[in-house]
Amino acid sequence: MARILITSALPYINGIKHLGNLIGSQLPADLYARYNRGRGNEVMFLCATDEHGTPAELAAAKADQPVAEYCADMHKVQTDIADRFGLSFDHFGRSSSPQNHKLTQQFASKLADAGLITEVSDRQVYSNADGRFLPDRYVEGTCPNCGHDGARGDQCEECTKQLDPTDLINPRSAISGSTDLEVRETKHLFLRQSAMRDQLDQWIDSKTDWPVLTTSIAKKWLHDGDGLQDRGITRDLDWGVPVKKGDADWPGMEGKVFYVWFDAPIEYIAATGEWAEANGKSDADWERWWRTDKGADDVKYVQFMGKDNVPFHTLSFPATILGSGEPWKMVDHLKSFNYLNYDGGQFSTSKGRGVFMDQALEILPADYWRWWLLSHAPESSDSEFTWENFQQSVNKDLADVLGNFVSRITKFCRSKFGEAVPEGGEYGEQEQALIAELTTRIRAYEGHMEAMEVRKSAQELRAIWVAGNEYLQSAAPWSTFKTDPEKAATQVRMGLNLIRLYAVLSAPFIPTASASMLSAMNTLDTSWPDDVAEALSALPVGHDFTVPDVLFAKITDDQREEWQQRFSGKRD
Ligand code: MF3
Ligand code: ZN
Repeated sequence: MARILITSALPYINGIKHLGNLIGSQLPADLYARYNRGRGNEVMFLCATDEHGTPAELAAAKADQPVAEYCADMHKVQTDIADRFGLSFDHFGRSSSPQNHKLTQQFASKLADAGLITEVSDRQVYSNADGRFLPDRYVEGTCPNCGHDGARGDQCEECTKQLDPTDLINPRSAISGSTDLEVRETKHLFLRQSAMRDQLDQWIDSKTDWPVLTTSIAKKWLHDGDGLQDRGITRDLDWGVPVKKGDADWPGMEGKVFYVWFDAPIEYIAATGEWAEANGKSDADWERWWRTDKGADDVKYVQFMGKDNVPFHTLSFPATILGSGEPWKMVDHLKSFNYLNYDGGQFSTSKGRGVFMDQALEILPADYWRWWLLSHAPESSDSEFTWENFQQSVNKDLADVLGNFVSRITKFCRSKFGEAVPEGGEYGEQEQALIAELTTRIRAYEGHMEAMEVRKSAQELRAIWVAGNEYLQSAAPWSTFKTDPEKAATQVRMGLNLIRLYAVLSAPFIPTASASMLSAMNTLDTSWPDDVAEALSALPVGHDFTVPDVLFAKITDDQREEWQQRFSGKRD
């Protein structure tokens, strides 16, 4: 049994995420977690809300709430939606937790001891019109690297380059739009990432099985010109982790907090501490996932994220961990995604364009979205959500192929043999051929799942459903029954067993439908089909079942048009 540690990039606290955010990290991470649990591996799957920084402060101000209260409320909202989407986190934490405060301050202390932190008088953008220092992402302007106009002071979303606000050409305040900005002196802590270039380089070189999208982004920022610069890790804000050296005050840093990107990834670790506390576990119970001196050396650690997060996870966070000199578990495999676009443009939180997680669940259950999003995951390139494509996938894959199969078999059996697995004889040639095909396909499915090839996994799963349909079509128990009822009974027994098998294989994608199928088949047997022939005899003769309700309803043209209209505009 393997031990798999899985983290999904932490969603910002400021608002409900759209479907593009969901497929960029949390959903594929959940797929992988569920698959590994299904295979009997020990899984620790973590996520949390990313609560610090100006986005939180400004969102709270807009909501007219104290920031701590706003974050507590939004955390509840996000927890509830994650739950309703079937995201099976072992713990959904908060980067504002006491555990994260403590760990962040400890990391800073270790880094300082290792000589990797310097105090610098920094020059920071001050907005006269707004009467405040402007945090990085509230300075906007033209990217010096690619010329994109809407670049933010922390990063250009267009070319992914990490920036400092003073790098921007024609800077303006994102709060007021004012260009009346000046640069003022203020003292800050810097992490000497440049001193760690060789160490990071070697570490990345050791990751020979990383996807090209990941390594190329990392290597680009490591080597291109001034790629790996020292990073300011403190800010002049109220809300955040106070700058301390472990428990001790840090002279000169009074009133400052750590930069949100410094404390956020540390929350991956802290969330495990929160999990331990919430479940009455000991420190040793969470440390065995994270400390290689305390049992974590046999853990496989996989991170999921959108491509804009790659530099932070391949350079900044590893610099924090390596620099601490402590034996923390580092990421083994990093799975990154391109962007999902929405109907000819981009999803936009500010413009309310596209479908947001809460709205999606208002119109259809989670499995419909999970299936479409995962089977169209933006892996090798950006992908696009269109309502036509969504309607087509749902109606074809889920309603026609899977749903119809389940309903045909169970109803036919009920009408001819009653609601129990019928007797009949041994499986014949046709069944053996199906078993052989399914064996090949299931082994391929496992391979794709283990490689985190999300689309390929979905394709293979669909092919597995199709194989059952084709079997049913050619075996045609409804005709067989007229001449050879015993053979028809054998075919139906195969069909009912296929339903159980499909429930087990499909659970990572469509957990709710999978649970309905298992409950209709009246079984708790979710064992993985290592031996397919055996798996297809799991439901014995005489085993009771029930005909389930319709698993997936088709999307009508009227519905499609209505939704298309509804989500094109402004979110209220
Ligand atoms: N909140 C960030 C985003 O949505 C991701 C943070 S990932 C973490 O882009 F590792 F830093 F927490
Ligand atoms: Zn750029």
